Amino acid sequence: METVIGTDIALAVNQLMNGNTVAIPTETVYGLAANALDGNAVAKIFEAKNRPYFDPLIIHVKNTNAALNYVNKLPASLQKLATAFWPGPLTLLLDKKESIPDIVTAGLPKVAVRVPAHTLTQQLLEKVDFPLAAPSANPFGYVSPTTAEHVFEQLQGKIPYILNGGACTVGVESTIVGEDNNEVIIYRLGGISIEAIEAIVGKVTLNINTSSNPASPGSLATHYAPQKKIVITDIASYINNNRNTRIGVISFNKLFQSPNVVACEVLSTKSNLNEAAQHLFAALRNMDKQNIDVIISELFPDEGLGKAINDRLKRASAK
Ligand code: TXA
Ligand code: MG
Repeated sequence: METVIGTDIALAVNQLMNGNTVAIPTETVYGLAANALDGNAVAKIFEAKNRPYFDPLIIHVKNTNAALNYVNKLPASLQKLATAFWPGPLTLLLDKKESIPDIVTAGLPKVAVRVPAHTLTQQLLEKVDFPLAAPSANPFGYVSPTTAEHVFEQLQGKIPYILNGGACTVGVESTIVGEDNNEVIIYRLGGISIEAIEAIVGKVTLNINTSSNPASPGSLATHYAPQKKIVITDIASYINNNRNTRIGVISFNKLFQSPNVVACEVLSTKSNLNEAAQHLFAALRNMDKQNIDVIISELFPDEGLGKAINDRLKRASAK
């Protein structure tokens, strides 16, 4: 199959209406989309990504009203979050209606729903009368793509079309939130910080799994991982103590130079955590291409998007 990269929304719509997959830009990461109401189309996503069927998919809709077509209810607290953050990097877990096939939710009673903010994908959603099931557009377990080229590098030959919307502005996946017994629960850290969510609904509970949990593989201990080994450590001392190792450094705000440092990616010279999140996945991919023995990184400040960055780095390093 030939894989084309372009900006032609009509072509993307056409592929989706024919039951095929299309990679789409969102503000978080690129997704691999198909008609969520068509089980055969959704199966093509799992096949292209080599994704296990127990891992449920997020459906993408154009606005809250459209979301209400596919869920039984929107609890008041989650409604507040939708009002505050949609369109944006927030995914809500809601009781699904029958029209959502089991293949989308891995048989679970809830479906993950999100309204993405990217203009191209908003235009695309205007033109189809079905929701788009879309996981991140990477082979299962690897780092999520934040450019059309990242998608092409890994999925070429497996999907017909990549809608090119440039580099993602958030850079980490959406924050996944649900409600149980009137308690708001965060299941995955992401593009909306805990602080921002608590400012709207008050104290929340964290249910971020660090062990293998088939019910929510986005929280598998090893996930979001580059091929190369990655170690989270104090960068300066690691460089000092490993003189004969070819090192790739991913740092928050400081450039490290040393004969054993082959490459150094500084995620935000201005020490801005949002900017750092935006650059994180591209930096991990770049390190995979370097002639190095190990990637090292450091813990980021434990606040705002720093928490999501640390979550991804820890999972990437858990081998
Ligand atoms: O930002 C994002 O969320 C991106 C863009 C493309 O929207 N999508 C994304 O999808 O990160 P994915 O498939 O890579 O991660 C979705 C994760 C699943 O692995 C699972 O942990 C959780 O969302 N999830 C989805 N549906 C669920 C459900 N019904 N119940 C519990 N967890 C669910
Ligand atoms: Mg993913």
